Amino acid sequence: KKSVDDINVKGKRVLVRCDFNVPLIDGKITDENRLVAALPTIKKLIADGGKVILCSHLGKPKGEPKPELSLAPVAVRLSELLGQEVKFAADPEVVGPNAKAAVEAMNDGDVILLENTRYRAEETKNVDEFSEELASLCDVFVNDAFGTAHRAHCSNVGVTKYVDTAVVGYLMQKEIDFLGNAVEHPERPFVAILGGAKVSSKISVIERLLDKVDTLIIGGGMAYTFAKAQGGKIGISLCEDDYMEYALNMLKKAEEKGVKLLLPVDNRIGDKFSNDANIQVVKTGEIPDGWEGMDIGPETEKLFSEAVKGAKTVVWNGPMGCFEMSNFAHGTEAMAKALAETDAVTIIGGGDSAAAVNQLGYGDKMTHISTGGGASLEFLEGKELPGVAAANDK
Ligand code: 3PG
Repeated sequence: KKSVDDINVKGKRVLVRCDFNVPLIDGKITDENRLVAALPTIKKLIADGGKVILCSHLGKPKGEPKPELSLAPVAVRLSELLGQEVKFAADPEVVGPNAKAAVEAMNDGDVILLENTRYRAEETKNVDEFSEELASLCDVFVNDAFGTAHRAHCSNVGVTKYVDTAVVGYLMQKEIDFLGNAVEHPERPFVAILGGAKVSSKISVIERLLDKVDTLIIGGGMAYTFAKAQGGKIGISLCEDDYMEYALNMLKKAEEKGVKLLLPVDNRIGDKFSNDANIQVVKTGEIPDGWEGMDIGPETEKLFSEAVKGAKTVVWNGPMGCFEMSNFAHGTEAMAKALAETDAVTIIGGGDSAAAVNQLGYGDKMTHISTGGGASLEFLEGKELPGVAAANDK
């Protein structure tokens, strides 16, 4: 893919699609990884003398200007991170008179941020008119929004129809390189760890990974569907009854393909879905009525950590338990620690696993933490992402 290294932006207006869809509580950004990850591209374009016009969506305002979903706080924080003013083009029409005037007034090396692209209903419908409006602001388009790459919206896909130059930024490049290489050319042994609540949302990724990995570890909520399918008692744990047969088929497939598939052997269970639940550790398949599996147990932590030890490549998507509750974060933390201690290339994909690793303080110990939730999952499934495809080297 052509990137920001292949173009000359001196004096040009550069529209950069970022993914600044960050969690906000009372106007405060609670996880700024996506902002930090966007800095290299922005700095490069500033250094090259471009007029840098940033844009992004935030949340789901459904085509209506909602003050609590304004990108204004992002402009403030970005200014601090960059050490340079990022002027906020407060314009409820996104590309309205305020935005146009702000772009008009830019000098080389200036940075502005447009308002939430989803204030416009056209954005998520990929309507040409809004794509054209966005394109009219710029000479060059840069897509650095990996987290949004699984969407085909005006600001990441439609806009490329109306610009002469559309390239990817450093973050997009890095995500594609790390996630792509890990799966296509892994150094072996290659271990994948899947967690999260649902088997149904991980089917495609399981199928693909079974053709690639040496070991597949399955933990988190989805493991209870496997446990029940194997005849175990799971109390009131999460379960997708419709996927039990699928789970059994997966086990068979793994065996046929010579993939070692590891499931939890014990679980931390609670008598209510709360951090102050009473807690017991029981063997998998022996959860009493009224109790719920909320984390993998200590034996499983050992088993899974051991499996990661000799790995050369590890891809992890989905937490091992309810890591938001400290009493049920042990399993997820044990895996983060195991990954931190290997020499393997460690790739963390998925919103929750990335959040968990960062929250637990292991962020800087990983080779790569993806900024994509849905996007990284779809990428790992082997799908072509529309946002990536649209930055078509023009
Ligand atoms: C994400 O956080 O996964 C992306 O920013 C995409 O957001 P969306 O799911 O609202 O399209």
